[in-house]
Amino acid sequence: MPLQAHSFRTWLSVLGILILSAVPYFSFAQSADKAHIWMNTRLSPDERASMVVKVMTLDEKISMLHGTGMPGLSPMSPLAIHSNGGAGFVPAIPRLGIPAIQMSDAAYGVRSSGENGRYATALPSDIAGAASWDLDAGYEYGALIGRELRAQGYNMSLGGGTNLTREPRNGRTFEYLGEDPILAGKMVGSVMKGLQAQHVIGDIKHYALNDQEAGRNAVNVNIDKRAARESDLLAFEIGLQEGDVAAVMCSYNRVDGDYACENKYLLTDLLKKDWNFKGFVLSDWGGTHSTAKASAAGLDHEQPGELFFGDDLKKAVEAGKVPVAEIDDHVHRILRAMFATGAIDDPPQKSVVDVVGGFEVAQKIAEQSTVLLKNDHAQLPLDASRIQSIAVIGPHADVGMISGGGSAQVDPPGGNAIMPPGKGQTRWLEKIWFPTSPLKAIRAKAPGANVQFDSGADPAAAAALAKTADVAIIFAYQWESEGMDLDSLALPENQDDLIAKVAAANPHTVVVIESGGPVTMPWADQVSGILEAWYAGSRGADAVANLIFGDVNPSAKLPVTFPKSVSDLPHPTVVQPPPASVPNYMQREVWKQIATGLAPFQVTYDEGVKVGYKWYDAEHKPVLFPFGYGLSYTTYAYSNFKVMPGKNPHVTFTVTNTGKRAGAEVAEVYASLPAASSEPPKRLVGWSKVKLNAGESKEVSVDVDPKYLSIFNVQQNAWQLLPGDYTFMAGGSSQELPLKASVSLK
Ligand code: BGC
Repeated sequence: MPLQAHSFRTWLSVLGILILSAVPYFSFAQSADKAHIWMNTRLSPDERASMVVKVMTLDEKISMLHGTGMPGLSPMSPLAIHSNGGAGFVPAIPRLGIPAIQMSDAAYGVRSSGENGRYATALPSDIAGAASWDLDAGYEYGALIGRELRAQGYNMSLGGGTNLTREPRNGRTFEYLGEDPILAGKMVGSVMKGLQAQHVIGDIKHYALNDQEAGRNAVNVNIDKRAARESDLLAFEIGLQEGDVAAVMCSYNRVDGDYACENKYLLTDLLKKDWNFKGFVLSDWGGTHSTAKASAAGLDHEQPGELFFGDDLKKAVEAGKVPVAEIDDHVHRILRAMFATGAIDDPPQKSVVDVVGGFEVAQKIAEQSTVLLKNDHAQLPLDASRIQSIAVIGPHADVGMISGGGSAQVDPPGGNAIMPPGKGQTRWLEKIWFPTSPLKAIRAKAPGANVQFDSGADPAAAAALAKTADVAIIFAYQWESEGMDLDSLALPENQDDLIAKVAAANPHTVVVIESGGPVTMPWADQVSGILEAWYAGSRGADAVANLIFGDVNPSAKLPVTFPKSVSDLPHPTVVQPPPASVPNYMQREVWKQIATGLAPFQVTYDEGVKVGYKWYDAEHKPVLFPFGYGLSYTTYAYSNFKVMPGKNPHVTFTVTNTGKRAGAEVAEVYASLPAASSEPPKRLVGWSKVKLNAGESKEVSVDVDPKYLSIFNVQQNAWQLLPGDYTFMAGGSSQELPLKASVSLK
């Protein structure tokens, strides 16, 4: 092509680009300057929201206060056609330049990618993220989800599970962040910071005390107010404060008599007044049960449809039953959240998800979150150059690793790994195995070894294979999902028997657990190694192989206690609902039963503040593996403890890597309150994850928020630091705290 023609065409295309890119700019600038004065980014989110509310019609306002329906849960609005395919959708208001809200579930990755023909990375489950005790990893976790939501066209996440593991048989334990309010609160805060930095509206859920799935639409939770404030509610309080989270999802259950989504104490008195929450409250899907009552209690937005916050709300306003100011406040909060997060100024641009980048983050977080629970005789790491034969055993360990189900489910590329490629759809309450193959990953690590597989379906055959190998690695699983609870914490499918038989055949047996929470291990004394890999995500197998062969040194610690037996839990069983409290899903329009309110049944959390380790400590119950516990391939020593009392107490101490490998130690700080507090023996008050080379020492400093040392005084409705003697302790697990010092505060 002659040069001239070439440059003429280049010039033309440059001109074209200039004109095209200028068109939206000019129209935006014009509307921003003249009509849409709220598009001025120099104004605060509150100022901008107020300006919009002032010019909205009642219909426009109401349109922001509900979704457009979900099959099976509500009637559908014709407007749902504009939804991006996520769980929730709020139509745009083009006249005002307000974009739609496109919401997607995104607990450990973006949901429903399969049916929408898209791709999403599966991170390790949320509880795994908490096991990293690494706030930077939490930020990366949220940022990855935020980027993938945007790439898929969403501007709001429905992740952010924050409920405490009060009942470890809860089928959603994997979606939450363990049993300690400070760990869970700080971790969800970091995840939300990372997510909202991508200009996606963050949401934390399920507010509050939604700690079992059985009868979730009817159950009434009874709990002492002080205990609630110091446990489950504290996790939310810290999460909201640390993460400046834009939305809160109220839960399905009742709390002290009222449904959470029409509970004035939870939504207004506590959340909006005491905690000064400026964002908006949306109901869990089908969690709205009234119009005027819910609106007055502080519910801002109904999902998924408009059973109560559509026409009925409009009529209630027109009849003077719901004040316009109340409606304005709901709308203001939603608009403020959109402005504050940048969801309006920087709308999502659909693009190809960064698959390779996603794999890297997922693998790194899995490596940081897999907990080494047992390693007798330094069984691990395996030396790939010396090992000659390995038996890889366990259900589907040849093809994949299990994932958590329900609305958190992320769809695997190619479909369920145990189905013919491409045929495996994700269906409610069906197990999904991710195509991350432990067998392949182990073969890749030990190319010189003879690596054989047995599914474990016949324990005797698996044991026979194990007998011939230098080492047996069993991948055992326990599946969890929304919509169910576990009967017990035992491994299903006869896996306890499988492990016992393999361990009897080979003294070098390592068990890798894929679970959503604690499992019981009657065979724990018989095996030489145990790793807790949780639901390990898209690259779980590579991460686990890197840990087994020592390319990565384990550094995670348990965010939940592993009890010896379910009989040690505060409650013998999960309370089951009577028939009148269960929706009849065979009936058409079952949502009507749920909406009107199913008969309540009672669950009483009389263990109160004694959640997790606080319970076992107070009740003197020995545990299998304690909260905060986790081994490494190196060892650490603690020394030089100093406690600085005062208004903002802090502690310092030295951690030394006394072994031969670099590692990262989660150094934990606990405190015992004065005896007059009647609190459990100790509580976590801070921690620091410290990277140390072999032989290296570092001074660690941990600030302790006075609130974490306080009790909640119900009469004064305030946190109170009791005067008296406080004992601070530091170490590598809640049951191994070599440093101890007492100080008197106040
Ligand atoms: C779950 C929520 C979820 C919502 C939307 C509900 O069943 O409890 O966690 O965000 O559905 O899918």
